[in-house]
Amino acid sequence: MAEIKGDRIFFYDAECSGEGPVSQSRIMIMRTSAAFCAVPTAVNPLPPPSAHANLAHMTHLTTASGAHVSTTTFGTMQFGGNADAAASRAMYDAARTAGITHFDTAVMYADGASETLLGQFIKSERDAIYLATKVGYIGGASRANMTAHFDQCRKQLDQDSVDLLYLHRFDDDTDLEETFATFADFQQRGLIRHIGVSNFAAWQIMKAQSVAQKLGTRIDVVQPMYNLVKRQAEVEIFGVAVDQDIKIVPYSPLGGGLLTGKYARGETGRITDNDRYNARYGQTWMHETARDLAALGTDIGIDPATLAVAWVAAHAAKPSPIISGRSTTQLAPSLAAENYTMDADLYAQITALSPTPPPATDRLEEA
Ligand SMILES: NC(=O)c1ccc[n+]([C@@H]2O[C@H](COP(=O)([O-])OP(=O)(O)OC[C@H]3O[C@@H](n4cnc5c(N)ncnc54)[C@H](OP(=O)(O)O)[C@@H]3O)[C@@H](O)[C@H]2O)c1
Repeated sequence: MAEIKGDRIFFYDAECSGEGPVSQSRIMIMRTSAAFCAVPTAVNPLPPPSAHANLAHMTHLTTASGAHVSTTTFGTMQFGGNADAAASRAMYDAARTAGITHFDTAVMYADGASETLLGQFIKSERDAIYLATKVGYIGGASRANMTAHFDQCRKQLDQDSVDLLYLHRFDDDTDLEETFATFADFQQRGLIRHIGVSNFAAWQIMKAQSVAQKLGTRIDVVQPMYNLVKRQAEVEIFGVAVDQDIKIVPYSPLGGGLLTGKYARGETGRITDNDRYNARYGQTWMHETARDLAALGTDIGIDPATLAVAWVAAHAAKPSPIISGRSTTQLAPSLAAENYTMDADLYAQITALSPTPPPATDRLEEA
């Protein structure tokens, strides 16, 4: 359990022993007793991360059979879209061979083809898989819309239940009581094991968590965007997740492909072909960061995609990045991150390639 007081995070468990690398100049871990320690923060509301720090004590996900869920999550947004059935199957097999057990989809990915294909692939090994899907990106978070979407998910997946159901985005027009009573009903009927929210601001997570708790349930997982050029989640979302013991499963670890370095080489992809991604990743400094990461990768002989995914996973809040691609060739360097351990010095070097967002108080002098 953790509590944020001012610019400090207090962890009330014996794991916070100061073990692990603390070589970054602004990290100081003070152990005041066996069961209590305070971590002064630098610019981030959480302690600057290290590959081995064991500071966060997050919700621990398991498959229905009780096995630990892989650190890396595989996102199937491309299944049935940019990746046809054969390419999707090949990526699924590559992910399984690399030890991935957590798979992410959504009711509307590729007009339902993502869930349909994923449902076929997991059929013979359902209990070994942690299956997550999402509802409510379109049409809101009312009971009627969530139920209609979730019925569609279960039909497309050809599954009675899933391990994790997310609300895909916050809905201003529906009371949280209605949304979370619906989630609670799904849970009580054994249709979902865990509740997640995606694209929520920190205050929305906290407000929703309080409603969920009044209904006898809780948010177990959050899915924010997070990568080296999209670091807003560090400011408050990671802090609230640690405080509430919520697992962080961030999407777009490659910045939609930007951090592979391919755009600096004049290649094309989602960022040149899709207006939304072009706007999201259009700023000059982001492209400079991608170029610098690629140069660093060349220097140390590691693919920049591996570095980008491993950098997300190395944060002290222990996020489980969702990787994806349109082919096994694209996927390979992201998959390699599952077994790549980033040391604290390299972590700091990569972190310095993009601006660290200011703390929520904006008091930079105290950061
Ligand atoms: N909750 C949400 O709102 C939300 C939003 C987005 C995604 N997600 C989830 O997160 C998953 C991952 O998100 P993402 O696809 O944005 O992740 P990402 O890792 O940031 O981007 C993946 C894309 O980068 C490009 N790419 C990957 N490896 C490459 C390589 N080696 N060389 C060149 N290009 C490469 C490919 O796009 P191109 O070939 O088109 O360049 C690929 O589709 C999705 O599948 C989905 O499950 C959730």
